Amino acid sequence: EIVSLMLKASSQPMPLSHNILPRVLSFYHHWRKIYGATFLMWFGATVRLTVSDPDLIREIFTSKSEFYEKNESHPLIKQLEGDGLLTLQGNKWAHHRKIITPIFHMENLKLLIPVAANSVSDMLDKWVAMSDSGEVEIEVSEWFQILTEDIITRTVFGSSYKDGKVIFQLQAQLMALTSEAFQKVFIPGYRLLPTRRNMKSWKLNKEVKKSLVNLIERRRRENCCNKTQDQVGGPKDLLGLMIRESWKEMEMDSNSSPSAKIMTVHDMVEECKTFFFAGEQTTSNLMTWATVLLAMHPKWQVLAREEVLQMCGARDVPSKDDIPKLKTLSMILNETLRLYPPIVATIRRAKADVELGGCKIPCGTELLIPILAVHHDQAIWGNDANEFNPARFSDGVARSANHRVAWIPFGLGIRTCIGQSLAILQAKLTLAIMLQRFSFTLAPHYQHAPTVLMLLYPQHGAPIIFRRLVDP
Ligand code: HEM
Repeated sequence: EIVSLMLKASSQPMPLSHNILPRVLSFYHHWRKIYGATFLMWFGATVRLTVSDPDLIREIFTSKSEFYEKNESHPLIKQLEGDGLLTLQGNKWAHHRKIITPIFHMENLKLLIPVAANSVSDMLDKWVAMSDSGEVEIEVSEWFQILTEDIITRTVFGSSYKDGKVIFQLQAQLMALTSEAFQKVFIPGYRLLPTRRNMKSWKLNKEVKKSLVNLIERRRRENCCNKTQDQVGGPKDLLGLMIRESWKEMEMDSNSSPSAKIMTVHDMVEECKTFFFAGEQTTSNLMTWATVLLAMHPKWQVLAREEVLQMCGARDVPSKDDIPKLKTLSMILNETLRLYPPIVATIRRAKADVELGGCKIPCGTELLIPILAVHHDQAIWGNDANEFNPARFSDGVARSANHRVAWIPFGLGIRTCIGQSLAILQAKLTLAIMLQRFSFTLAPHYQHAPTVLMLLYPQHGAPIIFRRLVDP
């Protein structure tokens, strides 16, 4: 059936780069009509149960989450994502989550606003300098990637920003090499052979780890000497917090043997890698799609700008109190995440026999939750499910669809995204300052071609024309 549908789709002449979203979604919705919201599908040699019924999704992520676990990533991806929160399971995951959750509390994140706003302003000053006669074409996906890289480096390393930047730049090179390998090489097993590209990526990976170990050990020694001062002020970055929490555990647990409770240098190295992997491209992706959608829908761009100007005027950077009040921007970001969720699907594996929606699921079964398809389901979102309409979020996320669990760009339940407030904060701040300074439209050669390569990307980038607003 897949082959016949593909042949039907490919009989219409389309360049490879064409927007693949309608095609993927039309397969999915076709099968959903025939087989219902839960059906089995082969992915190469693996069969997966595809689950898109929001009630069952809630069961998997929340009420019966103890029956499911995350599955193993591809070894190349593993090298990028680190052995941190994203992939850990059981007690070790719970311990790390407990230590790391506080740094992502809004009160801590608000402290980042002035620093993040500086990074955004620096970027926009460069655009101004590049604009001849008040206009400039910008490939926003590249610029936003550099911006989020900078902000995540500051969040993780704070006072060790300079050393951290060098390390995360190496990590970014490793990421680029890996996605190149995924884009170009389809021979099974080839990605694991000692080719020149693979050897380069293994070498980079070693270098990143070694530099992180050196940096963490240095910070531990420094913090050890300044322990009193640290206790008064509290650490200002994620690494400092992890170091402090690991001490606490050691002090409380001094009699017990080194256990899963203590966060070792190795654990911290892996968590730093995880934050870069999980937080950099996802957030720049959100900013890119939001900018594209605002360029496509000038009415919403005007509304968003009016709100920002009313709240903070044309020049003042939004403060920590302004950001939560930017309601139109929140609606726009929610709708962007609905239409273009950076992570299009997630997978769970049953760790015991379990019942789901009246079916017996044997231990070991893989379940696929197709976030993208759920977000575009007309039965949930109505006939305009494929259209950009931020107004559907005017009463908040919970009232936006006919089911509360229909909007899941950050996952759900205990393994929900730990960095979602940071991502939204960065995106809001960036869009707000951008709207204060520029109006923007799509470049004439922009091609709408969302494609999935680890995340949901604009295949040909996102060239946007920015015009300076002298007196908005
Ligand atoms: C988990 C999406 C930004 C760190 C997740 C999950 C999703 C997600 C869907 C759950 C995966 C699953 O259940 O299988 C996103 C999106 C982002 C974003 C769409 C931006 C728009 C960030 C940022 C950070 C971050 C900025 C950190 C700096 C994590 C971590 C986890 C996670 C550590 C694993 C949590 C756990 O299992 O305990 N993210 N994320 N993410 N995210 Fe994000």
